[in-house]
Amino acid sequence: MPERKPTPQQVEALRREIEAHNYRYYVLDEPVIPDAEYDRLLRRLEEIEARWPDLKTPDSPTQRVGAPPAQGFRVVRHRHPMLSLENAMNRAEVEAWRDRLVRVVGQAGAADFVCEPKMDGAAVELVYEDGVLVEASTRGDGESGEDVTANVRTIRSVPLRLRSPEADVRRACPPPARLEVRGEVFITVADFEALNRRQADRGERLYVNPRNTAAGSLKQLDPSVTAERPLRFFAYGAGDPSAVGASTQWELLEALRAWGLPVNPESRRCGTLEQVFDYYALMTLRRSAGEVGLRERLPARARGEVDEGATDAEWDSRELRRRARRAMRELNLGDEPLAYEIDGVVVKVNRFDVQREAGERARSPRWAVAWKFPPQEAVTRVLDIEVQVGRTGALTPVAKLEPVHVGGVTVTSATLHNPDEIARKDVRVGDRVWVRRAGDVIPEVVAPVTSQRRGHPPRFVMPERCPVCDTPVVRGDDEVVPRCPNAACPAQVRGRILHFASRTAMDIEGLGEKLVTQLVERGIVKDPADLYRLDVDTLAALERMGEKSARNLVAAIERSKETTLARLIHALGIRNVGETVAEALAAHFPSIDAVLGASEEELAAIDGVGPVIAREIRAWADVAANRDLVRRLREAGVDPRGAPAPRSDEFAGRTFVFTGTLESMTREEAERAVRERGGRATSSVSKKTTYVVAGPGAGSKREKALRLGVPVIDEATFLEMLAGGA
Ligand code: IVH
Repeated sequence: MPERKPTPQQVEALRREIEAHNYRYYVLDEPVIPDAEYDRLLRRLEEIEARWPDLKTPDSPTQRVGAPPAQGFRVVRHRHPMLSLENAMNRAEVEAWRDRLVRVVGQAGAADFVCEPKMDGAAVELVYEDGVLVEASTRGDGESGEDVTANVRTIRSVPLRLRSPEADVRRACPPPARLEVRGEVFITVADFEALNRRQADRGERLYVNPRNTAAGSLKQLDPSVTAERPLRFFAYGAGDPSAVGASTQWELLEALRAWGLPVNPESRRCGTLEQVFDYYALMTLRRSAGEVGLRERLPARARGEVDEGATDAEWDSRELRRRARRAMRELNLGDEPLAYEIDGVVVKVNRFDVQREAGERARSPRWAVAWKFPPQEAVTRVLDIEVQVGRTGALTPVAKLEPVHVGGVTVTSATLHNPDEIARKDVRVGDRVWVRRAGDVIPEVVAPVTSQRRGHPPRFVMPERCPVCDTPVVRGDDEVVPRCPNAACPAQVRGRILHFASRTAMDIEGLGEKLVTQLVERGIVKDPADLYRLDVDTLAALERMGEKSARNLVAAIERSKETTLARLIHALGIRNVGETVAEALAAHFPSIDAVLGASEEELAAIDGVGPVIAREIRAWADVAANRDLVRRLREAGVDPRGAPAPRSDEFAGRTFVFTGTLESMTREEAERAVRERGGRATSSVSKKTTYVVAGPGAGSKREKALRLGVPVIDEATFLEMLAGGA
C-alpha cells in the first residue's frame, strides 16, 4: 500500500496506462506487458481507491471487468453479468479469503469447496434455448460482450444441441428452457506447437502463446479462419445456477457433463482448506506441459533457484511432493502433466445457498477466489546475444537478458535455439522480448515486441567459426544447427564432462561448471575416464578448492562407480540416447560391452530404440576413441551390470504397462518382476500391450487401454499373476 496520498494527476496517469493496456489486449489482441504486470497495476489502483475513496472516478478501470466490445461484432448484453475473480497470490491470501468468508457465512458454510484448474484461455458464454445453441459471446466488459456465435459453432467440443440425459445418470434432469453456460475456450500445448510448426513451415509469424491465440481466434471476422484453429472448450458455470436445478457447484458440473458439455475432469470437491492446498500443490507440479512426469520433476526450489516470495517456494520440495502425493491418493487425481496451460486454481464454495449468502463485491463474488501460479512469461530487454558451444558441438545462440522474474525464478539468459529461429523471430540486441519459462524447461525467448524497437539495430549473424576453438563451423544440408566439427574443442570436452557428471547421469556431486572449465583448460581432464585418476593434491591446487572440497569430490567420484548400467549409457552422451533409451538398453543387455557389441538390427529391435537410434549407437561404438574411453572406464572400475538373464519365461511374450500408484511395491520393482519372468514392461499403451496395471490416480493410459480394448487389471490381480495365478 502506498505511503503518501497520490495526487489526482498521478492516479489519472495510472488509469490511463491501464486503459491503454486494456485496449491493446482486448481490441488489438497485442499486449505489450505480461498479465502479471497488468494485474499489478490494476491492484495498485484498487488499493489506492480503497484507501482514498475520494480519488475514485466512475469511469475507473476498476469499475468494470474488461474493455468495450471490438468493432465488427454485434454487441450482446449478458442477462447475468460475467464477473471476474479476486486473485490470491499465496497461501496467506487464500487463508485471508476463507477467514472473510467465515465471518459472513460461518464455519460450516466455508468448509465445502470445489477446486478447478484455472484455464488460461478466453471466457465465453453459450446460450442454449430448448437445448439448441443459439448464441455465444465473449465476456467483453462483463456486462456485454461480442457475438461470436458463428466462430464458436466451429469448435468441435461445443455441442450444438444438448443431450437429453440418459436414465442411468445420477440426478439427471433435463436442461432448462434457457441455459447460459459459462466456460473457457482454450488451445492445448501440443496443438499450439503444431500450429506454430505449420506457421514456421509456411514462413509465417509465430503465435506468442496458446491464450492469446485462443482469444484472437474467437475474434476472427471470418469463421472459416476460426475453424482452422484447434480450439477446445470446458464448461465451469452457469449464468443463473438456480435455473439449472442443481443446489451445488458440483451438481452443476455433473449436470453440464450429463447434457454433453465438456467439463474438466480434474475438478474436485475438497472438504478442508488442507485439501485445497494439496490440490494446488499437485497442480503446480502438473501444470507445465512437457513430457516429464511428476516423479522425474524436481521443483526449482530443490535446486536452490527459487526466489523468496515466489508462490511455490512456500513449501519446500519435500512438502510440495508430500502434498501432491496426498492429493493423488485422497482426491484420486493423476500425476500426468496437464495438456493445456493453467494459470492457477479456482476455489469455489460448493453450496449455492452459501454462495448467495456470501454475495458479491463490485466485480467479483466473495464465494470464489483465483489462486494464481507465479507467471511463466515476462517482458525484458536483450542485452547481448552470445553463441555457446555444447557437448555435441552444436552452436546455440543465447540471449543475455536484463534480469527478470519468471516462473518463480530470476532469469538472466534464455535460449534462442538456432539461427533459423532467430531469423524467424528477428530478435535483435536491445529489443524488448517476451521470455517464457515453463516448469523446469530452459527459459526461451518467444518473440520481440517490435512495436517498441528503438532505432535500427542490426540483424544478428551467426559466426562462421567456432567462438571457442576457431574451427570453421559446418552445417549439414538437412540440419538446422551449425556445429563445431572439432571433437577436441574445449567447449565440447567441457560439455561432455558436465553431462557425464550430471544428476541424471553419473551424479557426481561437486563437479560444477567452473571446476570443469579449469580442469579442461589446464589439460588435466580430456575425457570422462580422466576423472577417475584425479587425486586430492591435484584438485586442492585449483582455484577456489580447499583440501576438504577436494577430498569430498574424490569421494563423490569414487562413489559414482557404484552406478547402474542405464546411468552409464546415458552418461556417455551418445546422440539421441537419453534416460529413457538408456533404460531400455540396460533392461536388455547385461553390460556396456554387450550394448556396444550388439548389431544394428539387434539394437533396432528393442522397444523404444528403433533404427535411427540404433545407427547412432553403432556409429558411436565404431569410433576408436570411444571404445578406448569405455575400456579405460572399465579399468577404473566403472562397469555396472544390466539386465539379469530372465529367471523364468512365465511372462514371455506379455507386455505390461503400469499406471497410477501401486500400494505394495514401486513401479520399478513391478517392472523388474515382469522382466525377471521373461516379460516386457513399457511405458506407453498400444495395441501390443497385454495388460495395463492401473492403481489409484490412473488417468490417460487407463483410458487409452479401454479404448483399444487392452485388459486393465488392478494391483491385486497382478500380484496373483506374480504368485503364479491365472
Ligand atoms: S469461474 C464468478 N472457473 O478466470 C466466477 N473462471 O477472472 C467467474 N477461468 O474470466 C469465473 N478457469 O475466464 C471460473 N474454472 C474456472 C475458470 C475460470 C478459468 C477464468 C475465466 C474468468 C477468469 C476470472
